[in-house]
Amino acid sequence: MNKINIALIGAGGMANGVHYPSLAEFEDVNLVGLCDLIPAKLQATAARFHIENTFTDYKQMLEKTSPDAVYVLMPPQHLFEPVIHCLSQGHHVFIEKPPGLTLHQVQEMALAAERNGCKTMVGFNRRFIPLMRQVKAIVEENGSIIQCMSTFHKNSPAALYYDGIIDVLTCDAIHAVDALRWLGGGNVKAVASDINSFDSDRENSFNAIVKFDSGASGYLCTNWAVGGRIHIFEMHALGISAYINPEVDGRAVIHTSEGVQELTTVEAAGTDANYKAYGFYGESRHFVDCIQGARQPDTCFADAVKTMALVEQIYRSRMN
Ligand SMILES: NC(=O)c1ccc[n+]([C@@H]2O[C@H](COP(=O)([O-])OP(=O)(O)OC[C@H]3O[C@@H](n4cnc5c(N)ncnc54)[C@H](O)[C@@H]3O)[C@@H](O)[C@H]2O)c1
Repeated sequence: MNKINIALIGAGGMANGVHYPSLAEFEDVNLVGLCDLIPAKLQATAARFHIENTFTDYKQMLEKTSPDAVYVLMPPQHLFEPVIHCLSQGHHVFIEKPPGLTLHQVQEMALAAERNGCKTMVGFNRRFIPLMRQVKAIVEENGSIIQCMSTFHKNSPAALYYDGIIDVLTCDAIHAVDALRWLGGGNVKAVASDINSFDSDRENSFNAIVKFDSGASGYLCTNWAVGGRIHIFEMHALGISAYINPEVDGRAVIHTSEGVQELTTVEAAGTDANYKAYGFYGESRHFVDCIQGARQPDTCFADAVKTMALVEQIYRSRMN
């Protein structure tokens, strides 16, 4: 078996909660080094995942461990420089969402990846939720998706991301934008949007109708000033409709003329462990498989440019 050597930058919440638990289960991965600026987090995480080599300077880690790939898991305002450095040294790179503060940053990262022949991936985990993938495959047995909806609601009207360095849509509601692009076939033809501030000084509700090249109509419905965290999706093809609520209901309901079929989040994932049922394990598996198979991951930086461009287009396409 060809083993992939992976170095890790960041010993924070996502690293410990979902990404390193996933990587630690892969037989074809060696965790060759871990870096964090905070010694206590560094040592606790290294001990938990049995990582021998620890560093507080990521450049030193890359020199000493010569990894094939690097996970860079840190807040978006600190991401650009280490990502560009990793790519300049020819390392494949995995990052969380958002891929950058601006479309320009992500374009630069995509160019650097291409110039250096690197595989890259953004952790848009909704695409890797087993329930979402299985239901999408069932719907697409009837043909391509002609209508789709991506809804993300929260109850935190004044939410501020990283002291205000980045807006709600680019930082967090981008999950719904990326999932909509995935459902609609990936390429956007036209957008009309309605953006509002509810009970907040900041814009916190982003709604759009998106026309895709595929012919599909996509609907984005996000609002951070409503009842609570509800993240649901609809996928429709000729003669079939699926309504998917992977978190709160933990199920999808699929309607055809033959009747109604249900599938649960846990059935689809084969486990109720959140890091598997909510797509994190699957996205890391996809990244490692793509390195092994010398192909670009589905959510590579070049693809993330399209999601960031859609975010920009939503801002530019207000109906008034
Ligand atoms: N996919 C999802 O559903 C989801 C959910 C939550 C967060 N996220 C994203 O995950 C990313 C990371 O979030 P988090 O909550 O894990 O962050 P965190 O703040 O818990 O961890 C980041 C870690 O990076 C370290 N760090 C910062 N700069 C460093 C540097 N130069 N060198 C070494 N270490 C450095 C910090 O010390 C910290 O330990 C964010 O971009 C966030 O938006 C995604």
